Amino acid sequence: MCGIVGYLGPLNPKDVIVSGLKKLEYRGYDSAGVAILHQGSVKRVRAEGKLKNLESKLTAESFDGHLGIGHTRWATHGVPSERNAHPHQVGGISLVHNGIIENYLEIKEALLKRGAKITSDTDSELVAHLVAEQVEVQRDLLKAVQVVLKELRGAFSILVIWDQQPDRLVAFKDGPPLVIGLGQDQVFVVSDVQAALNYTKKFMYLEDREIALVKGGAVQVYSSGGVEIRKPVVELNWNADLVEKKGYSHFMLKEIYEQPQAVSSAIAPHLDPETQAVRLRNVGFAGAPVQELENLDSKEDWQDTLATFNGIARVSIVACGTSFYAGLVAKYLIETLAQIPVEVDIASEFRYRKPVLLKDTLVITVSQSGETADTLAAIRLAKEKGLKTLSICNVRNSSIDREAHGHLYMNSGPEVGVASTKAFVSTLAIFNLVAVAMGEAKGALSKQTATEHVQALLAVPSQMEVVLAYDKYFADAADSLKKFKGFLYMGRGVSYPIALEGALKLKELAYLHAEGYAAGEMKHGPLALIDENMAIVMVVPSDELFEKTVSNLEEAKARGGKIISIGTGDNTRLKGISERYLSMPKAHWSTNPLLEVVPLQLMAFHLASSLGHDVDQPRNLAKSVTVE
Ligand code: M6R
Repeated sequence: MCGIVGYLGPLNPKDVIVSGLKKLEYRGYDSAGVAILHQGSVKRVRAEGKLKNLESKLTAESFDGHLGIGHTRWATHGVPSERNAHPHQVGGISLVHNGIIENYLEIKEALLKRGAKITSDTDSELVAHLVAEQVEVQRDLLKAVQVVLKELRGAFSILVIWDQQPDRLVAFKDGPPLVIGLGQDQVFVVSDVQAALNYTKKFMYLEDREIALVKGGAVQVYSSGGVEIRKPVVELNWNADLVEKKGYSHFMLKEIYEQPQAVSSAIAPHLDPETQAVRLRNVGFAGAPVQELENLDSKEDWQDTLATFNGIARVSIVACGTSFYAGLVAKYLIETLAQIPVEVDIASEFRYRKPVLLKDTLVITVSQSGETADTLAAIRLAKEKGLKTLSICNVRNSSIDREAHGHLYMNSGPEVGVASTKAFVSTLAIFNLVAVAMGEAKGALSKQTATEHVQALLAVPSQMEVVLAYDKYFADAADSLKKFKGFLYMGRGVSYPIALEGALKLKELAYLHAEGYAAGEMKHGPLALIDENMAIVMVVPSDELFEKTVSNLEEAKARGGKIISIGTGDNTRLKGISERYLSMPKAHWSTNPLLEVVPLQLMAFHLASSLGHDVDQPRNLAKSVTVE
């Protein structure tokens, strides 16, 4: 979950590395550091806390070399402190690490026996010791790493430099991502392409237990056994300025405002331009690697997708956090439109509950980053059991994307705020299309119903523009909402996962106690929580469950709960019961969730801002969770 950047080339490494770390700060912000070549040795500067602390320290520093590595940390082993900050230096070795070394205790014991002086509490420093020992024997950084890699177990991506070979950098990984950016006579090694997009659009993705030697402007990649591997180079179409705030105070706010566009971009590739029928485009179930998807024959590919959907008897959706809640919405969509039973699992539970995975199950993983360790493990488990897998990712070529048989993309553009927003609505849009496509493949859906769903989806971007007006509303309301001791979010049916998502947003951003509940469950426990200090956020669209949900709302009101309700149009009944009523445009039941979530995101954003919290980088969290 840390961010790492390495650079070898003619530019000033300090500038390149700091600009890269800025783009990676979402991966962790407990400390940051750089190690850069200067006057024949490697100078290290580190600081506890956010990157800005390191930047202030670096203003007085200059470096004359053209090689360097940098790191922004999300603490796993050892508290956040300068002592535990990366890069770790042992002898002439400087090293940065993202992940966890599982056999670190064993390694530490052996190192201590050999007289190593360990100066931090991290597992990462131990790897620096191992490499430092080996370069003394091998007199070559690459060879030293080849030996050390055999000793490491866990999930890691590592960059290392040696002051005795100042023309090179060695990178290797098992688990968390490492991407190599290729420029004119310069090379970038980064945790995420965003860190190098200002300089290049050409990237090479390192696979597990591969080792890259960056020397001069060239890169050679080797297997752990030392065999040279030819790696494909992928050219990306993401633009560096997509990763800027563009005048918004926060990335999260910008990303909330980008949601109408995100929904359009998610659905556009999958609708027939003439008939607007759903034609999922270039999913690749027949087995093309992700780099080749664009070159597939769309007609043939669509037939493969229909055949795959037709051949399945059940769906298992696996994801974490907000992506998991998107999966819960999908259960309602797929079961209703395609009549296929759907199970939804939290990835960390799925892996360890020994799931019964029958052969005719399609496993769908959802992950914005495409790097979430538990979701990645889940897709591997499904493949081991011989099941077909389909990934829905935002980041193309990410680990989960590359592992899956079939591929769909959120197409939201880079999401930088730690709280997921636009990726969620894009995923809901994609799941609407998947549900329609499955319904058609199974013969469970009439053409007319399919068209109705597509029309509903096409209306969402403009309906969302209306809902964004709640930005101003919550900017004003935030102060008075701070007084509540807790928030109970509730909904029924397809709006129940939206209650869960609303509560998650408030927890992670405002650090306030919030719970999401199925409204009908209230009387089985949570009702006891309700008094005048509890805010009840009730999602009550005008759908077939309206009357039932209103009854639940009345029950809460009778116990003194202060009601914020979200309903359809000018609903006088809801207005009468509620302290605050938020009106949504009239939409289809299947698209209501895309609209309902927007005011809940804005409410969390404004409450967190008014409490003085860092909305884009909430405490203790990181955007890409590459450890279990
Ligand atoms: O990248 P992923 O979609 O796999 O991430 C899953 C969760 O870590 C993520 O949704 C998390 O819950 C967000 N912080 C929620 O806003």
